[in-house]
Amino acid sequence: MPEATFHFPRGFLWGTATAAHQVEGNNTNNQWWKWEQDGHTMAKSGLACDWWGGRWREDFDRAAEAGQNAHRFSVEWSRIQPAPDKWDEDALEKYRAMLRGLHERGLTPMVTLHHFTDPLWLSEKGGWESEDIVSLFEKFVRKTVDALKEYCTLWCTINEPNVYALSGYLTGDFPPGVSDLKRSIQVEANMVRAHVAAYHAIHQVQMESRVGYALHYRPMVAKNKWSPLDALMRNIRYEGLNMAFPSAISTGVLKSPVMKVNLPEARNTQDYFGLNYYSTDTIWFNIRKANELFTDSGFEKDADFSDGNYIANVPEGFYNSIKWAVRMYPNTPVIVTENGIECADDHIRPRYLAQHIHQMWRAVNFNWPVKGYFHWSLVDNFEWERGWSQRFGLWALDPETQKRTKRPSADLYAAICKENGLSSEMVQKYCPEVFEKIFPS
Ligand code: BGC
Repeated sequence: MPEATFHFPRGFLWGTATAAHQVEGNNTNNQWWKWEQDGHTMAKSGLACDWWGGRWREDFDRAAEAGQNAHRFSVEWSRIQPAPDKWDEDALEKYRAMLRGLHERGLTPMVTLHHFTDPLWLSEKGGWESEDIVSLFEKFVRKTVDALKEYCTLWCTINEPNVYALSGYLTGDFPPGVSDLKRSIQVEANMVRAHVAAYHAIHQVQMESRVGYALHYRPMVAKNKWSPLDALMRNIRYEGLNMAFPSAISTGVLKSPVMKVNLPEARNTQDYFGLNYYSTDTIWFNIRKANELFTDSGFEKDADFSDGNYIANVPEGFYNSIKWAVRMYPNTPVIVTENGIECADDHIRPRYLAQHIHQMWRAVNFNWPVKGYFHWSLVDNFEWERGWSQRFGLWALDPETQKRTKRPSADLYAAICKENGLSSEMVQKYCPEVFEKIFPS
């Protein structure tokens, strides 16, 4: 067996990512909590991972012991600004304590300012549909960054604006459960505007900050290669999901399949690009999907599937996504802000992890400026409309007892972080079934 190690550049960030509503618990003052109480989700977030109760400490200990040197978490707007004219200094102090907790454990923090949740008062005012959101978000960002700037310089304004706009206003899976293409474009355009305002505000508050957003990027292929209709549908969906927000940042025009919105102020408002990659889709024409412009999606039939077929393990798609990012945004560092798979018994995660790290290493070897990788996620957490049915953690969580149990992938990832690379020994030990693919003889 050949002995080899694929190394990463010195200073590479290795961490995990989490989001406030998914881990904190008892986030009773946002629109997702209400959506859960109204019965729209498979289960409720409840106590989640009880980070608000203090269990972040033990989870940060786990991350540090496992060799991670960074962590990405998000702050909950509804806790920091519980009412339009009220700031909660205690909540900000708690986030400061969490950030100190990361530093004490040798972890570089990355803070996301918006990850899917909005204060209830904001939703009642029309949320992201009204342009008022731009100044409201800017005010919240200024206040929060000012309070946390002592401990953090790496900021993510908005997580997956494309998923927020499309799931909340086109497919209706997220609150407010609307299905209206024009409204979803309006929301996405406002998210661009709010990102721009936040970008400048953060730089005003903290000169040395690095600011970006995180995009859910999905490579796509037409299901039937011979079908012009599938090819057309693939292009429509690709443009709608992947290109609208990023094109605004690079060209100042948000281009959707049905309309354009000029946003010249959006050009060059990022210091790095945040990439969330999970899988690659196949797309086809479906007459019954009028609300999604007749596009439908799935995976290759013979794919390597996660529990419940929610994610197909397509590592080359990760390489292609990084390639897309460096072409889309030349000379811009890329940070992988999320990548992961749901699997309760951990049978697929070790190979998913090793194969994706391998593809990221290939990208790094073209001198593409990939600076860090945040695995989703540290510990099982609340999976939005899918409740607790999907397990993305390196550690398993029993939400009833709050007991954590380490999965084998946590040890594989620890070995990768500590080595700053992926070795043949690791692959042999944790996922020998893909050894030939990663280290061909
Ligand atoms: C979201 C996370 C979510 C993950 C897995 C991403 O799109 O940013 O909040 O948990 O996917 O479903």
